[in-house]
Amino acid sequence: MNQVLAVTLLSLFAILICNEKVILCESDTTAYHLRLYNSINSLRVKHTVASLKWNRTLTEMAEYFATRILTVANSFDIEESEGINFFIGGSTRPAASLVADTWYNESLSYDFNNPGYNAIYLNFTQLIWKSSTSVGFGVYTANNHTAVIAKFYPAGNIRGKFRQNVIPKYKKLRR
Ligand SMILES: *[C@@H]1O[C@H](CO)[C@@H](O)[C@H](O)[C@H]1NC(C)=O
Ligand SMILES: *[C@@H]1O[C@H](CO)[C@@H](O)[C@H](O)[C@H]1NC(C)=O
Ligand SMILES: *[C@@H]1O[C@H](CO)[C@@H](O)[C@H](O)[C@H]1NC(C)=O
Ligand SMILES: *[C@@H]1O[C@H](CO)[C@@H](O)[C@H](O)[C@H]1NC(C)=O
Repeated sequence: MNQVLAVTLLSLFAILICNEKVILCESDTTAYHLRLYNSINSLRVKHTVASLKWNRTLTEMAEYFATRILTVANSFDIEESEGINFFIGGSTRPAASLVADTWYNESLSYDFNNPGYNAIYLNFTQLIWKSSTSVGFGVYTANNHTAVIAKFYPAGNIRGKFRQNVIPKYKKLRR
């Protein structure tokens, strides 16, 4: 049911951005966003945190940021209150699952017994951050590079809040 709703919302949004001609419109962008959405939510499930909801405002921000990051120098300097994950690939879009797995694989550096802020795993901790509830994606290709951006609200990676928001992976008890 949630997926049906997400597809409907994403389709409506795709029509909107194509009509406004704000953003490069490609026919499979909606499907790409949906694959990212599903990949991330299936990783969250493993950590027993609720799935994120798709959010139009965050999508608009992520699309804008994806464009900016590839075309404007120092665009990382923008301060925003929402969380952000990014992936910069080559001239073609990376598989959505590859992007999600790259972010998720930073978990290898995370020590659940000694939780806290460290720049080496912030894509992972934001991805499964418990109190983040919505997400939006942007993807843009220019100058032989593709930027994939995810924006999260409320922002994760807050110092002092890692223990209660980065939940260990659920392990089935052995009998
Ligand atoms: C969607 O994201 C915007 C921007 O961060 C936020 O202000 C808004 O509350 C979010 N909507 C929901 C339903 O979470
Ligand atoms: C996230 O992952 C990307 C790509 O692997 C990396 O460049 C970036 O530094 C990571 N951290 C954050 C906070 O985005
Ligand atoms: C993530 O880690 C797994 C297990 O170590 C590995 O098989 C996979 O290739 C990695 N994926 C990416 C995108 O780094
Ligand atoms: C993109 O890559 C091609 C092939 O390597 C190269 O010829 C071209 O100059 C590159 N374009 C930009 C904008 O970097």
